[in-house]
Amino acid sequence: MSDRPRLLPLLGTPRHGSRDAMTCLYRCGNACDHPVPNTSDNAYFGDVVNAEVSRRGVVRAGAVGALVLGFSGAAAGALAGAAPAAAAPVPPMPPAGQPAATGRRPGSGALTFKPIPPNTLDTFVVPNGYDHAVVIRWGDPVVPGAPEFNLRRQTAAAQAKQFGYNNDFVGVLPLDKGGKRALLVVNHEYTNEDLMFPGFTSQDALTVEQVKVAMAAHGMSVVEIERVAGSGQWRVVGSGRRPYNRRVDALSSAFELTGPAAGSSFVKTAADPKGRTVIGTLNNCAGGVTPWGTVLSGEENFNQYFVGGDAAPESEKARLARYGISTTARYPSGSRKWDRVADRFDLAKHPNEANRHGWIVEIDPFDPQSRPRKHTALGRFKHEGANVIVARSGHVVAYMGDDERFDYLYKFVSDKKFMKGDSWVARKHNLTLLESGTLYVAKLDQTSAAEIDGSGTLPSDGAFNGKGRWIKLVSGNRSYVDGMTAAEVLTFTRFAGDKVGATKMDRPEDVEPSLLTGKVYVALTNNTNRGVGSNPAADEANPRSANRHGQILELVEDRGDNTADAFSWSLPIVCGDPADPSTYFAGYDKTKVSPISCPDNVAFDATGNLWISTDGNALGSNDGLFATATEGPERGHLKQFLTVPVGAETCGPFITDDNRSVFVAVQHPGEITGATVDKPASTWPDGDYAKPGVVVTWRLDGGPVGS
Ligand code: FEO
Ligand code: CA
Ligand code: CA
Repeated sequence: MSDRPRLLPLLGTPRHGSRDAMTCLYRCGNACDHPVPNTSDNAYFGDVVNAEVSRRGVVRAGAVGALVLGFSGAAAGALAGAAPAAAAPVPPMPPAGQPAATGRRPGSGALTFKPIPPNTLDTFVVPNGYDHAVVIRWGDPVVPGAPEFNLRRQTAAAQAKQFGYNNDFVGVLPLDKGGKRALLVVNHEYTNEDLMFPGFTSQDALTVEQVKVAMAAHGMSVVEIERVAGSGQWRVVGSGRRPYNRRVDALSSAFELTGPAAGSSFVKTAADPKGRTVIGTLNNCAGGVTPWGTVLSGEENFNQYFVGGDAAPESEKARLARYGISTTARYPSGSRKWDRVADRFDLAKHPNEANRHGWIVEIDPFDPQSRPRKHTALGRFKHEGANVIVARSGHVVAYMGDDERFDYLYKFVSDKKFMKGDSWVARKHNLTLLESGTLYVAKLDQTSAAEIDGSGTLPSDGAFNGKGRWIKLVSGNRSYVDGMTAAEVLTFTRFAGDKVGATKMDRPEDVEPSLLTGKVYVALTNNTNRGVGSNPAADEANPRSANRHGQILELVEDRGDNTADAFSWSLPIVCGDPADPSTYFAGYDKTKVSPISCPDNVAFDATGNLWISTDGNALGSNDGLFATATEGPERGHLKQFLTVPVGAETCGPFITDDNRSVFVAVQHPGEITGATVDKPASTWPDGDYAKPGVVVTWRLDGGPVGS
């Protein structure tokens, strides 16, 4: 008898793929209503038919991998009297091909939790034998001295010290050797004023102070947390100095531009004639923790914050349009009208301001006085996030996705090498690694092109797979793209991808390497425009027309070298209801896997299992978190670990190095068209109105999660 959870009845099909229209409005400015920004005619699969590539073991990359070094050096000077943070414990990493601590090959672990069924409950659901708790929610104090949250008397000054809205990325960085204290670093992607302000009627009716509240609710939070009684549970440290606690926001925080495009003519404005200092960060989506203990954050749908594109210089309009900015309306539909607070959001006055967003941000949570940086060397697009691995050579490699229908997959390889250890010298050096290097875009070839008909039928060679190449776009100040300077390639990276014929993907979201195997996993969330009308047809990596459920792509670099310029790829998971013949779960018995739709973020546990969170489940269930082995006989045995409340997406996922705590961000609970803070569609987490929040889940018996 099948133990596959039964599907719930399908809800009405929303207008925009699978997301509620309210989410589309607030999160990405109704991107699906706009024309696909990529109108380039670059061939997305040119010459085909490459020989099948046999997989080979990939050596692990770098000696340090993801291990986070809680480091106090840079912070110590700034934190007179603060307790120094000792280096975090560094568990031994298994050598290449050797068993992990479990005695199994990395990524081959059996996940022992019983999968939970799909559901539409307005609650947070975990497997039997597990418990969960809210760690922090919108409005909770972050900076010591922050006022208590008052829904009906919100001020920007208060919000700038409180936990922001719509938490997405979650990183947990140890603060001590004993695993008792850590820093929680969280992105706040966007705001939903309907669900924030009682009596909300329209953006125009907001007071200027309320607009400032929304701007202050964007950005990032750094919060000190502590383990609860030796368990896998964590809570916010509620008293004491908490020297690292910090907010950065879209209202007033200053960011330094680094790299070849910093100081270029494209990023200079009246307020910043040198083109080096940007106020604010926008739409911070996913991210990653670096091996040197900083956090990367992707500025994603920054386009929706700008107005006045209609009156921007004609010479700039094609560039604005390629990034999804309206060049025909002063106020595009759903505009937030932040120009009411700061005219930097008005492109009629400051056309370069848009070029100062859409970057990867690096923040050093261990140095609260440090200015976060926007790294131009990693290119400018709708950055979902960035995840770093140290290659065998010591160079660091960041993998990145541009979350737009028919946009591209990128990687960055640093010029300098990672310096091991947690000395002040090493850390100072490592903080410069993302300032110079080489940026590549992916072009994927196919093995079964003639068989791809958009139905998702597995080709006769048994796999959606092929070889691929990393096409060099720019290296330092040298451009490899005809007719574009290095600064131009980095600032208008989408055009560079168009010119070199990069492969148009089904919305590349999180891209993350396994630090145990070196293999890279890409969440391709969906693309309902694939193969529709004049849009590009299905191809082997994006094999379904009108793709509602998305797929996971696995990328294996040649020779196991993350700096390589060629790779093999395959689709281990083609998402949907397993009863749907177009789905695929690495050949695993489909009666035993959980239905999954719209993969968004990926993460790994300490044994290398792949965890996948979803955004916009098009099967009618709430979004959730899933896990599967990536190697061995359990590869493809996908099981659902948790679901989030009504209207929410599951973000963040972060599994701590001791494998005992799973953090997720519950983003936009209750975001259902027609809902307001007074008439909420969700009352999670406190029973009154919906609040985004970060949740930790742990095993009641204290054992490792999953396996
Ligand atoms: Fe903010 Fe691509 O999700
Ligand atoms: Ca094939
Ligand atoms: Ca996302």
